[in-house]
Amino acid sequence: MDQEMFVKLLNEDLSSEYQSIIQYIQHGATLTGPQFLAIAEEIRRHLPEELGHAQVLAEQISFLGGTPTIEVSAIRPSSSPQDALRADLSLETDQLDRYRERFGQANELGLADVAEALRPLLEQTQEHVRDLQSALGH
Ligand SMILES: [Fe+2]
Ligand SMILES: [Fe+2]
Repeated sequence: MDQEMFVKLLNEDLSSEYQSIIQYIQHGATLTGPQFLAIAEEIRRHLPEELGHAQVLAEQISFLGGTPTIEVSAIRPSSSPQDALRADLSLETDQLDRYRERFGQANELGLADVAEALRPLLEQTQEHVRDLQSALGH
């Protein structure tokens, strides 16, 4: 793992955060009905945190000499509210794995400041996974 590869992976993380932002905007507005009241509210609370994650990633990429991507990871339409929530959970779970890896890699590369900047992303993503798991009755 060199710094160039690390920046490439951070850019993939950024594309994934763009995906989260779009999914949460759409799902927060379309999960209607009394049974989705609480989870739609939860999703709307996640949204500004995802925006913050994207900003942190873009700043770290730039700090490391890279160019923050404008590519959005592919998003597929949801067939039902449950399907939308499963897609959100799957994305958050994937991001949690990614940030665990990235945190370790930042430390291995001696980038303590970058690791420190990534810590809130790791912690908040952990909370998002738990929120969606409980919404889906896991
Ligand atoms: Fe995020
Ligand atoms: Fe999240």
